Amino acid sequence: MSSPATSGDREKVVSKLPGWLRQNLKVRSAQHGIEIQSAVEQGISAWTALASGLDTVDTAGADSFATLLPPGQWDVFKDTAKQRSVSLTQGLAQAVQLWLDRNPAPDIERPVITRRFVVCNQKGGVGKTAITAGLGEALAEDSNSLHPVQIAKQLADADGEEDPLGVENLPGLGLRVLLVDFDPQCHLTNQLGASPLPMDGDSLTNHMGGTPKGDLRDLIVTIDEERFGDRLHLLPACNDAFLLDVRLSGVRAREAALERALAPLEAGYDVVVVDCPPSLGLSMDAAVYYGRRRESEAPGQSGPLVVVQAEDSSADAYDLLTNQIEDLRNDMGLDMDYLGLVVNLYDPRRGYIATSSLEGWMDIKDPRVVAIISERKEQKEAVRMKRALLAYAPKSQIAVGMRALAREIS
Ligand SMILES: Nc1ncnc2c1ncn2[C@@H]1O[C@H](COP(=O)(O)OP(=O)(O)O)[C@@H](O)[C@H]1O
Ligand SMILES: [Mg+2]
Repeated sequence: MSSPATSGDREKVVSKLPGWLRQNLKVRSAQHGIEIQSAVEQGISAWTALASGLDTVDTAGADSFATLLPPGQWDVFKDTAKQRSVSLTQGLAQAVQLWLDRNPAPDIERPVITRRFVVCNQKGGVGKTAITAGLGEALAEDSNSLHPVQIAKQLADADGEEDPLGVENLPGLGLRVLLVDFDPQCHLTNQLGASPLPMDGDSLTNHMGGTPKGDLRDLIVTIDEERFGDRLHLLPACNDAFLLDVRLSGVRAREAALERALAPLEAGYDVVVVDCPPSLGLSMDAAVYYGRRRESEAPGQSGPLVVVQAEDSSADAYDLLTNQIEDLRNDMGLDMDYLGLVVNLYDPRRGYIATSSLEGWMDIKDPRVVAIISERKEQKEAVRMKRALLAYAPKSQIAVGMRALAREIS
């Protein structure tokens, strides 16, 4: 059943393991950031060190499983299995189960202060809504399964080439996320298959304008896909937000209006992601204020995430936006950290304009480029299907990039 052969200083062994146990082993070792072979090694050491055998593990359907162990460990294991009168397959299954029992899934690390990501740019069509959705989805994905993530290597290359070696399967981040559709056009709401709120009911605009009709929590909907569990929620928009700037002009401390409205909801979430409208009005000030660094919050936890494109017209829009953010920061004495720039809709085949503007964004350094997301058909298809991108096309290159973005800033 085993066929030792050396590889480096470890010994290759081939045995059998049932599929479910192999899957649990794969996920759990990724959750602990260790290699499968190290987990098996630890399990076998623990198992051979036990005073007696363990309960029988169901090994029905076990098939071939190869791993690398320190020299000699497998011989000790075989002797122990013999003494305990169990088959090697049963012994290995017990050893792996023992490791799983002794190394439970780590707890999700939750921020003390709910993090606020303000996805903005007054330029329309750059991908704010797409990034808000993709980022929120990636933050909320199941931490007990593995999902393909683009690893940093590609960001450094920035050549847009698809590189299969740059993809790694990692556990989801498992965070509780509230997406806020803060754009009166209701794109985010529609894209995720929810309905815009009716004009005569309650809405975020009413809460910000000081005329709430109920509890904002009652307006929230769950994005119902298995991979998000009950962790991904949406506060839908209402067309009444077209009047928000007018409403805000009569409100006391209007910069704080979004914060006042959303603060009561924060306890249920690790991250709130705000999809901003394509404008630089009072509502934008309120969104930026919401992303300021709060007292006792560590730098870089919350703030504006600016979505840009690798083309020249994006640069002027960016200057206007950062001027407004700077003014607000100075006028109100705010601590403000940018989360970064996302270069979206990147297509190196567009040639010099694309590549040179990308370099321009990279040169800014503060805020730094935290992701380059290529133009991919799956994004538009997901919108058409009114489905979350990461559920519609979980393995697509764009989904893989959204997960990298989520990890980069979380
Ligand atoms: N990386 C991408 N690849 C393909 N299509 C994209 C990508 N990002 C955005 N889009 C599409 O481009 C259009 C504009 O994006 P959207 O997110 O609505 O921009 P904004 O919110 O800034 O106005 C939408 O149809 C969207 O689905
Ligand atoms: Mg939008």
